[in-house]
Amino acid sequence: MTIYEIEGGKPMAGELTAQGAKNSALVLLSAALLAKDVTVLKNCPEIRDVAAQLEILQSLGCVCSREGSTVAVDATGVSSTEVPQELMRQMRSSVTLLGALLGRCGTGSIHTPGGCAIGARPIDYHLQAFADMGVVIEKEGDHLSAAMRQRKDSIVMLPFPSVGATENVMLLAARLPCTTVLSGAAREPEIVDLAKLLNQMGAVVMGAGTDTVTVRGSNCLNGAQHTVLPDRIAAATDLCAAAVTGGSLTLRSVAVRHMGAAIEALIRSGCEIRSEEGAVFLKAPKRLSGMGILRTMPYPGFPTDLQAPFVTLAATAEGDSVMVENMFENRYQHVPQLHRMGADISVSGRVALVRGRPLHGGQVEAEDLRGGAALLLAGLGAEGNTKVHDAQHCIERGYERITERWNSIGASIRVQSLA
Ligand code: UD1
Repeated sequence: MTIYEIEGGKPMAGELTAQGAKNSALVLLSAALLAKDVTVLKNCPEIRDVAAQLEILQSLGCVCSREGSTVAVDATGVSSTEVPQELMRQMRSSVTLLGALLGRCGTGSIHTPGGCAIGARPIDYHLQAFADMGVVIEKEGDHLSAAMRQRKDSIVMLPFPSVGATENVMLLAARLPCTTVLSGAAREPEIVDLAKLLNQMGAVVMGAGTDTVTVRGSNCLNGAQHTVLPDRIAAATDLCAAAVTGGSLTLRSVAVRHMGAAIEALIRSGCEIRSEEGAVFLKAPKRLSGMGILRTMPYPGFPTDLQAPFVTLAATAEGDSVMVENMFENRYQHVPQLHRMGADISVSGRVALVRGRPLHGGQVEAEDLRGGAALLLAGLGAEGNTKVHDAQHCIERGYERITERWNSIGASIRVQSLA
């Protein structure tokens, strides 16, 4: 259990540097399995999910080390193709290890990641895509074994631009001596980052960032060195922190071009924003305004991972906002917690109607990563004292040194870690 105790109402002002992207680092670490030697990732965030992924890689026979923000994975001695169940449970995104194991070893076993706090999160698109690429899959309960039956050129079509399924197809395709054409692909920046690493390793990946990705793979990939792209979700969360406190922030080492939807929403809330290559500057009004309608969509639309933080902004604003969550069916768990702090939010299915008003401090519980961040933001923006109880250490899964960074620019958050 981690407890965050926040003294609210303190405007934040200063400068921060963005962390490396969690969602990129995790899949790049899966990609490291494909190489016959060492892959080095710079700007790899020091967060729980990355630690869990490194633990899984070690259990598969890789040798992993970290020095500051640089992580090295030596996949020379991969000796197992079974992802241990207890490690798989720690982190759903380890599902991309299946594509990497199939590519590297021809077989792979995982336990299906199952539901999580934000919804059912099925992997049927991943499995259908693998089947289209010549993989045979056997399921027993939640245990899933996959084996390459036939290495062949293939055309794969995703019914929805799933990020994880796109990554899984690319990982497997990169290590096959064939050509794979994937249509209906996700276009997130993390997909482009993965393509860059795979290309450096010796595969030929074209079209990443569009809805059709073509991969000409190779049965021998080398390790490579790559810098993880900046985390657009964590960066936007930093901007939200300054915004909700009526403060100002200079954020460096960001990819501003990946943050269009978040920046547009912040401008609608009344923040002044300027940007230049690699940096964004925010100045918030004393009180934020309602933001109209925000709809979560695949990239470049408004990201579902920012839905919870922006619901908090809307909850403290003057005026109404409407959030429509189109990506996950159960992603409003932070709302009952925000009610405890005086928020006026009504949820009906995918739609949340938020009537902004000043929030007061309270005792709340974090149930998922982004919902947890939203509660920290609420604490920063509220009058009085807030305690966020994070029994599962959700917030540490994705945010690097969040309290230390925010306290350095004027927040007042005390952290208590209980076993
Ligand atoms: C990734 C991100 C997550 C982000 C999400 C959407 C990582 C580690 N996680 O998750 O932070 O919130 O993208 O941007 O990168 N779906 C199916 N069947 C499938 C796969 C997906 O029905 O086989 C559905 C999902 O239930 C969801 C939608 O497709 O409704 C999008 O999911 P997907 O893009 O796959 O999300 P993840 O890759 O799991």
